[in-house]
Amino acid sequence: MKIGVPKEIKNNENRVAMTPYGVADLVRLGHVVYIQSGAGSESGFADQDYVQVGGSILPGIEDVYAASDMIVKVKEPIEQEYSLVRPGQIVFTYFHFAADEKLTAAMKNSGAICIAYETVERADFSLPLLLPMSEVAGRAAVQAGARALERPYGGKGVLLGSLPGVKPGKVLVLGGGVVGTSAALTAGGMGADVTICDISIPRMRYLSEILPPNVKTLLSSEHNIRCELPHVDLVIGAVLIAGAKAPKLLTRSMLSLMEPGSVVVDVAIDQGGCFETSRPTSHSNPTYVVDGVLHYCVANIPGAFPRTSTLALTNATLPYVVLLAVKGWKQACREHVDLKKGLNIVEKQIVHLGVARAWNLPCVDVEAVLN
Ligand SMILES: NC(=O)c1ccc[n+]([C@@H]2O[C@H](COP(=O)([O-])OP(=O)(O)OC[C@H]3O[C@@H](n4cnc5c(N)ncnc54)[C@H](O)[C@@H]3O)[C@@H](O)[C@H]2O)c1
Repeated sequence: MKIGVPKEIKNNENRVAMTPYGVADLVRLGHVVYIQSGAGSESGFADQDYVQVGGSILPGIEDVYAASDMIVKVKEPIEQEYSLVRPGQIVFTYFHFAADEKLTAAMKNSGAICIAYETVERADFSLPLLLPMSEVAGRAAVQAGARALERPYGGKGVLLGSLPGVKPGKVLVLGGGVVGTSAALTAGGMGADVTICDISIPRMRYLSEILPPNVKTLLSSEHNIRCELPHVDLVIGAVLIAGAKAPKLLTRSMLSLMEPGSVVVDVAIDQGGCFETSRPTSHSNPTYVVDGVLHYCVANIPGAFPRTSTLALTNATLPYVVLLAVKGWKQACREHVDLKKGLNIVEKQIVHLGVARAWNLPCVDVEAVLN
């Protein structure tokens, strides 16, 4: 198969969909891989790194789309790419169709086979291609919060880590899923005094078994959160209710319980945020202050760490890319239910119920397109 990797052109997107190691694997299996010149540069990979393992460099994005049977990307195609997608071409990337009607219409009209990273789902309901980015975001949230706590950045001037004779900083993590667990592990590793809240008792039982002794679990309730706030330096919001807007666990009036210069990091901002006072910010201007409390609400946290995020993402996507290349999309999806769940649009037909419902469009049974 001819596989194309274009350079990401969405604003502030520095990741690339394939590393030279991935290209080497595909070339070894007899496939041709086209990389757009410069596609890997922000992730630390030069054109020459791809050439050395048998990849072919093409100068322009049009060349990559025109030459490839399958396009592997990071972010959804943006408007200037819509016309480049060809009928019958496989496009494997994050799409988030339910949030973008224009994109849905454009990909439907293109006649392509759109397989969305975010809906690839394992039998245990885990989302293997979303998970690595949540792991990055959880760790990075602590890093961002620690920085915002520094006095020159407007914070109260507390160091999260412990040192002899001085109590460590206090961190409250709301949500004990992938982001929250990564955040708790990172803050705990720094020596902070950490509390992690969830509504699921089995999840908290698991967390209390795996997390270090300086991380405690607490049932998530308004009362419990209110009791914690006066003593906390950093709050990390990491809750998710699948398919719904995030619940507001921290209201504006609750901010007054916190000391001035405290920090709140709302990782759930991409689902509307779990603090009442959250609004999306960018990497170039990440924080703002409400009632003396610093807010960090960047919606694409992994974008700031392209070298790490590219490796974490491609580690997860490569096995699926190999399956698609070796077996073709129909056979690969017939044999692998997790990949089948990634099918969103197939040759002008919507085959994912969530996407169809979002835009009130008919949904075709996915089995019908696999025959
Ligand atoms: N900003 C970014 O760059 C970025 C990056 C990755 C993920 N995210 C977002 O982070 C959020 C969390 O993602 P995740 O992968 O950890 O999800 P997850 O499903 O693994 O975990 C969510 C957790 O929230 C818990 N929860 C639900 N309601 C709660 C409540 N009222 N109180 C406490 N806990 C509650 C759930 O029980 C679950 O354990 C999502 O909104 C995701 O989109 C943002």
